[in-house]
Amino acid sequence: MSVNQNIQTRVEELRVVINDHNYQYYVLDEPQVPDSEYDRLLRELISLEKEHPELITEDSPSQRVGSKPDSGFAEITHEVPMLSLDNAMEEGEFIAFNKRVMDKLRLTKDVHFLCEPKLDGLAVSLRYENGLLVQAATRGDGSVGENITLNIRTIQSIPLKLRTDNPPTLLEARGEVFMPLDVFDKLNQEAKEQARKVFANPRNAAAGSLRQLDPSITAKRKLAFYAYSMGVVSDDFVLAENHLDRLKQLQQLGFPITSELVSANGSDEVIKTFESMQNKRASLPFEIDGMVVKVNSIAQQEELGFVSRAPRWAIAMKFPAQEEMTQLLDVDFQVGRTGALTPVARLEPVFVGGVTVSNATLHNMDEVERLGIKIGDTVIIRRAGDVIPQVVSVIESRRPNTAKSIPYPTTCPVCDSKAVKAEGEAVIRCSGGLICEAQRTQAIKHFASRKAMDIDGLGDKLVDIFVELKLINRISDLFKLKHEQIANLERMGDKSAQNLIDAILASKETTLAKFVYSLGIREVGEVTAKNLANHFRSLEALLAADKEILESVDDVGPIVAQNIVDFFASEINQKEVNALIESGINWPAIELKSDADLPLKGKTFVITGTLHSIKRSEAKLLLEEKGAKVSGSVSKNTDVLIAGEKAGSKLKKAQDLGIKILDESYFDSI
Ligand code: IVH
Repeated sequence: MSVNQNIQTRVEELRVVINDHNYQYYVLDEPQVPDSEYDRLLRELISLEKEHPELITEDSPSQRVGSKPDSGFAEITHEVPMLSLDNAMEEGEFIAFNKRVMDKLRLTKDVHFLCEPKLDGLAVSLRYENGLLVQAATRGDGSVGENITLNIRTIQSIPLKLRTDNPPTLLEARGEVFMPLDVFDKLNQEAKEQARKVFANPRNAAAGSLRQLDPSITAKRKLAFYAYSMGVVSDDFVLAENHLDRLKQLQQLGFPITSELVSANGSDEVIKTFESMQNKRASLPFEIDGMVVKVNSIAQQEELGFVSRAPRWAIAMKFPAQEEMTQLLDVDFQVGRTGALTPVARLEPVFVGGVTVSNATLHNMDEVERLGIKIGDTVIIRRAGDVIPQVVSVIESRRPNTAKSIPYPTTCPVCDSKAVKAEGEAVIRCSGGLICEAQRTQAIKHFASRKAMDIDGLGDKLVDIFVELKLINRISDLFKLKHEQIANLERMGDKSAQNLIDAILASKETTLAKFVYSLGIREVGEVTAKNLANHFRSLEALLAADKEILESVDDVGPIVAQNIVDFFASEINQKEVNALIESGINWPAIELKSDADLPLKGKTFVITGTLHSIKRSEAKLLLEEKGAKVSGSVSKNTDVLIAGEKAGSKLKKAQDLGIKILDESYFDSI
């Protein structure tokens, strides 16, 4: 008896602690313990409940994922209908709304509004009886929705139990279920890898996840929730008198609310807020499609009332659409620096995400197949923020009889060389190498670019002109350019020509790493080039290295090693490298470092989580320059773990092994 009593006390204690951690994490956004500690507590609870099933309660944090219902979702009639919002597509429509509000309230002073992001997810209503979540429903048509209680229970940020000792008999919290962008990206990435259909946008993904009959699938989708209003509330709960305070009441009861709330007096302030919300849009971790403006005073809301299904006290100011429909007119193949033939969709121009779009990349032929796209199809184009436009899906029901398949390219559209597809690769490439004018042009652009030879003033457009006019044919021709050839070009004068000649001359003083990078060897980026330079310390040694030796260099695997061998085996490339060296390109000798320069020699580091002040590749290089070894996994041989934000299993393992853990500020000190 007393043992059981003890266990019961512990189980209850665990529930309180776990619920507290949940609240700190999801509602206050201030986690108090690492995930590992949270997991440990939850595991302890689950194991105690397993041994003593009689102690399990419905609101236990272990009971989020239940079993499938036998049939589909039952219907639920909303006691208070779930309203929709009128839209304001432009400023003028909001000003008219503001005027209607002021007229109806007979106000001469500015109205006090609360501005909230318009979350792009699904509205749900959560019913709590005596503090316990008993039912959750979709909005449906506003009057009748679907019972999705089992799925809603899997959303970690939704309390199964209100955080109060004195719960109201009845309270309905309403808000939006949505999928955070990182979850959405990961889900679609996995879908692509497994050649499954991807979700067009986070809202569809959230809807698809919430309407799963199996709650264990919903649980895996990591949905999120923000509360924005209340439905039925029993009289024993004293409601605040304005909307903002009601949101705070919801927060106190355990619901997450958005931190992007802005009070605004009158239409000028609302319009300013709309602009800043729009600027913030791209940096938010979830999708919003506008801003909802609500009259803050509940008394004023009541006086204003409703028209049909929408309140007269709120309006949704919409952002320009990020998705539009248009027609795929044709597909061309663009040749990249390494010969990759990238299919590019030529579209009937369409205004989306604030610009007119007439091209969109289709990435590669695997993507074309996955989309099942044909020329003539009606497609959905998405342009979010500054991201390049994407074709998200095809509306097959609108496919015309004349629709044509997109043929795999068999030859390069520029040089007519054979197009080849390497096994296991999605990319089809032009086999022409530097015979291909497109590849040559791209190679020259890469050579001149900032991180390569850094030829000031030689941008992509100028390279195109030089190649088109046949002033240069190969990279090494750059060093043969004459002042008068450049000065005679349109919009170039004596001065710009001289500047460019000087810049080309100056670029000859470089480093071995930059020179190796500038050659544009496939998959040899800046970091690999640096590693190669530090390892071989001379071009001759690099040229003489075979595949096996190359593979002993950090960061160089069998594929990269083969790319390097192939590059230098080509006669054209050999001639080109010789020509470049003969033109006078040179670099200082690389000194062997002494132990004094290698304070981290013999130490093994692991980097995990998201770093903000430095790129992962740069962090690694910095450590390696000091002599450290940087490994990908934590073991007992690890000396130091650098843990960035959202560090997960590696951090836990390092903690378990008692390894020294530092944060990214360490890089400021070395
Ligand atoms: S309030 C009486 N606030 O927009 C007002 N709705 O077009 C009811 N939505 O069905 C809604 N963010 O799914 C409100 N901050 C927000 C919202 C929001 C998104 C959605 C909600 C609603 C739809 C109406």
